[in-house]
Amino acid sequence: YRTLDGLDVRGRRVLLRADLNVPLRDGRITDLTRLERLSPTIGELAGNGARVIVLSHFDRPKGQLVATMSLRPVAEALGAVLHRKVAFVDDCIGPEVARAIAALNDGEVLVLENTRFYPGEEANDAAHAARLAAHGEIYVNDAFSAAHRAHASTEGIARILPAYAGRLMQAELVALTAALGNPARPVGAIVGGAKVSTKLDLLTNLIARVDLLVIGGAMANTFLAAQGAELGKSLQEAALHDTARAIMNAAAGHGCDILLPADFVVSETFAPNPSTRIVPADAVPANTMALDVGPATTDAIITAVKGLKTLIWNGPLGAFETPPFDTATLRVANAIAAATKSGLISVAGGGDTVAALRQAGITDRLSYVSTAGGAFLEWMEGKVLPGVAVLATDSA
Ligand code: 3PG
Repeated sequence: YRTLDGLDVRGRRVLLRADLNVPLRDGRITDLTRLERLSPTIGELAGNGARVIVLSHFDRPKGQLVATMSLRPVAEALGAVLHRKVAFVDDCIGPEVARAIAALNDGEVLVLENTRFYPGEEANDAAHAARLAAHGEIYVNDAFSAAHRAHASTEGIARILPAYAGRLMQAELVALTAALGNPARPVGAIVGGAKVSTKLDLLTNLIARVDLLVIGGAMANTFLAAQGAELGKSLQEAALHDTARAIMNAAAGHGCDILLPADFVVSETFAPNPSTRIVPADAVPANTMALDVGPATTDAIITAVKGLKTLIWNGPLGAFETPPFDTATLRVANAIAAATKSGLISVAGGGDTVAALRQAGITDRLSYVSTAGGAFLEWMEGKVLPGVAVLATDSA
């Protein structure tokens, strides 16, 4: 793929695909990370005299104009985050857009309305992509987190205009390649979360690539139950016991060690600060459920992390939104941060993971924290991301 290195953008209309899909609660943006991380690209383009036209989706309006899914408030927040004037038009094609673009001066930034208000976006309709492409002369994709979607603004346009990776896209690709492409070994992965079923492809890909796989979260229960452990009321997927055993066998074949919980923090109810007990992972009492991995497991994970050169992390180890079941996740997060200081390459991603890191206050102490949720998972599954693949083909 081509980067912005040496690209002359002065006076040119640059169509920048960003991911402005920020979390919103009661009309307020709850996390500005995705906007902050656009700063290098927008700063560089605008600083070099480009006329920057930003395209993004927001939420899932399914091809309809849904007023609550307008990008207007996000465009305002982007201006505040970047400390620059950011204009907005409430459409992404049509005469009003054309007028706003014609009025842009060098170095100015304009955000267009939610690309998903048009059905042609998700359909990746060629005529629709051409209408979007007509706004600019150069296409820059900085939306790694939307690159798993083959949509008009993430994929179609790149077939029409000369296409480049923005600085955030570039940073994501460099970090992710360092972690799974050709990593410094030993390389380990920590995978948590509730369900094996949603992470089957991911686990299958990882066991073939990493030397150590730590499985935490409720998905570990399914693996333990498959080996005959008593799990009480703990969440697990009984239908996946054979699958779990097959993954463990395949891991052994690849020389990948699997680290499963040896102890759990259990409680009779899932509520904040209930009374808890620590029990062996194969003997959860019938009236209780596992809600976090226990201290012995946490120690084992921390020791294992210290022996790694590269680590990829996705998914919390326990029910971390509800203290004290965030204990293991926070302890491991801090240990990863400390190991990173002494040379570990640590890469984390996926929605819940980033929330957990923020809770631990260590997002800036890992080597790299991805802005991506679904795209990070698909990348960990070894899938080709269409928005990335199209940048590598020198089509226009
Ligand atoms: C995300 O938030 O993961 C991206 O913006 C993609 O959103 P989507 O899952 O609605 O395509």
